Amino acid sequence: MAPIRSTVADIVLDHIAHNVQAVRGIIPARTELMAVVKADAYGHGAIEVASLALSAGATRLGVAVLDEAIELRRAGIAAPIHILGYVEPECAEQVVKLGLTATAYDRESVLALSGAATRLARKVKVHVEIDTGMGRLGVRPQDAVGFAELAISLPHLEVEGVFSHLACADAADLSSARGQITAFHECCMRLESRGHRLTKHIANTAAILALRESHLDMVRLGLGLYGMYPAPYMKSLVKLHPAMSLRSRLSHVKWVEDKTPIGYGWTYRAAGQRLIATVPIGYADGYSRRLSNVGQALVAGQRVPLVGRVCMDQCMFDVTGLAAKTGDEIVLLGRAEQDEITVDEVAAWMGTINYEVTCLISRRVARVFWRNNVVSGVRSLLGRMH
Ligand SMILES: Cc1ncc(COP(=O)(O)O)c(C=O)c1O
Repeated sequence: MAPIRSTVADIVLDHIAHNVQAVRGIIPARTELMAVVKADAYGHGAIEVASLALSAGATRLGVAVLDEAIELRRAGIAAPIHILGYVEPECAEQVVKLGLTATAYDRESVLALSGAATRLARKVKVHVEIDTGMGRLGVRPQDAVGFAELAISLPHLEVEGVFSHLACADAADLSSARGQITAFHECCMRLESRGHRLTKHIANTAAILALRESHLDMVRLGLGLYGMYPAPYMKSLVKLHPAMSLRSRLSHVKWVEDKTPIGYGWTYRAAGQRLIATVPIGYADGYSRRLSNVGQALVAGQRVPLVGRVCMDQCMFDVTGLAAKTGDEIVLLGRAEQDEITVDEVAAWMGTINYEVTCLISRRVARVFWRNNVVSGVRSLLGRMH
């Protein structure tokens, strides 16, 4: 069962399971683990990752938008799914029908949800988001109790939880994150003093690893689920395994003469006779154009530099010194023999963060899922094969 195209992202599901278990090992037994699988599980394949994470110890799933939740429900996933982002009020009935959990932070959305649930004679769950310093979604701390009590008073609406999101938990200086946690606790205490016992959560991967006091009733694990770290120093806190690697094949290998220009804009010229390999991956695959003239890859375990600009569907590497030929494998992300191109390296070349690197890998790149060293499924533009 091979994908038709040789440019593929390998997703090792065993590593996802390991990462869930490793994180479960550092959080209290009573603390729930939400697997954050928004953005197609940070590019890793939402359905496959969600199923695996649930079987490995996660009890809930987090997505950003309704469509992502629908995709998971259509795949038969029955676990609680939280929509952490905005849901259009006109979509409230879908949220209710699919038994999804929504984020509550303004009157309009809770009224829409309560109205839809009442019409359908069903309950809908929400978690109230408090903005303790992210400046994004969420009620202001001073409005938290009033808003939560409004939501609690609405028919068919069940306020199950209360949460906040940390802006700087990946920073070396954790004082602002600690300040957010304190502000969140103060809101929770005011709610509790008025008799409201809710599921409390604030920790993302960085806080799970570096701020153990943030674990509370649930943690929301995104980046770490995929084996990536929010900051390099966190590697010593728990051992995670990266789940994604990216490989392709050389589609053309040829010698070029001294000063031969390569690619759009002629931004690179061969210095002497060079062996140049073309590779069928480009920015439409999510292999960013920002890698032009700075990226590296592995051919036969050796580092080779990307030369010229990344095109939409192809790019070129200088493979001089290697006995490279058309059809040979090239590793753009991941391990080959003794060396490894890490997501963090690619992110640095692109001038971005590791999150963006895997999220960008587009659907044109087939995902090949591995379990116990065997391919357990493939998802390509042409659909899923198991
Ligand atoms: C509300 C919320 N919680 C949790 C996460 C997961 O964060 P991370 O990937 O840093 O673990 C995100 C991701 O951005 C988020 O938006």
